[in-house]
Parts: sequence; C-alpha cells; structure tokens
Amino acid sequence: MTVHSKAFKFRIISLLILISLVSVKLAAQNWDVPADKKAKNCDFKFDEATAKLGEAIYSKKCASCHGTPAKGNNRRAFKPVPPDLGSSGSQNLTDGELLYILSTGRGLMPSFFGTLTESDQWKVISYLRSFNKSYKQVVSKPNSARPKK
Ligand code: HEC
Repeated sequence: MTVHSKAFKFRIISLLILISLVSVKLAAQNWDVPADKKAKNCDFKFDEATAKLGEAIYSKKCASCHGTPAKGNNRRAFKPVPPDLGSSGSQNLTDGELLYILSTGRGLMPSFFGTLTESDQWKVISYLRSFNKSYKQVVSKPNSARPKK
C-alpha cells in the first residue's frame, strides 16, 4: 500500500509540475527574438515621407486590430488584446524586434512575410516611431558585414 501511494504521489507531483510549465508557456507575453534580429536596424532614415507611406499601409493592414497608435482604440475583444502600438510597452521594443514580430507573427497576429516587403515593413515601423517623441533612430551602416537580403 505504501509503495502504491508513493507512486501515486509521484504521479500527482509530476502532473502538477507539467501543468505549471504549460501555464507559464501560455502566459508568456514576451517575444523571443534572436539577438541578431533584435539588433537589426533599417538602412534608410525615418522621416515624414517614410512615416506617411507607412501610415497608408498601417491603415489598411494593422488598424483594424491595433487601432490608431496612442488612441487606445485597439480591439479589446481579441485575446490576447492586440496592443496599442503607441504604448510604451510596444515602443520599448527595438526596431529589429518590431521587424521580427511583423515578419513572423504569432497567433492572431499575422505574419507579413511575403505580404509586405521588408522596406514596407520598415515604413510601417517609421510611422509607429512617429508617436514616440524620445525615439532616436540608429540607421544601419550601408557597408556593414551583414549580408543584404
Ligand atoms: C488580426 C488582427 C491583427 C492584425 C491585422 C495585426 N495585428 Fe499585430 N498583433 C495582434 C495581436 C493579437 C497581437 C498580440 C499577439 C501576442 O502577444 O501573442 C499583436 C502584436 C503585435 C505587436 C507586438 C506588440 C507588443 O507590444 O508586444 C506588434 C509590433 C504588431 N502586432 C504590429 C502589427 C502591425 C504593424 C500590423 C500591420 C502590418 C499588425 N500588427 C496587424 C493582432 C493583429
């Protein structure tokens, strides 16, 4: 009987550990962006013209879920809620992380790889950065060792 209950306890404990691991995975909100992608920068300067081009793309492809940046009119009914991209949480992401999220997607968040060129994705990011007064762009050096794709 004691041997049986030991095995039973072991099974219950293993089950509890499994459940907690799964719930940690489900609750994880952070984006796991590889270091090289996180450090990636755009090779053109963001200005009013690039932000305007980005705004046109954003209104067609993003606003239906994320709303107008910094207006808090994002779709609250969706789970997870598509963040307001003007919020500090989203603005604290690096340019490279934003690009990675746009091209890979996750769950309800679509992948725009193949739908938007990388240059268009940067234009959208340029538009998003126009809502961040303290943003300072780092433009990637044209002759950096990174292979161009
Ligand atoms: C169908 C709805 C939908 C559309 C369209 C959409 N997104 Fe999202 N987006 C989401 C959801 C939902 C999340 C949260 C996903 C998660 O955390 O797993 C998200 C997350 C993000 C994030 C991460 C923000 C953060 O603070 O974590 C960025 C950046 C983003 N989206 C940008 C965009 C851009 C730019 C577009 C348009 C090119 C776009 N999304 C289109 C639903 C959408």
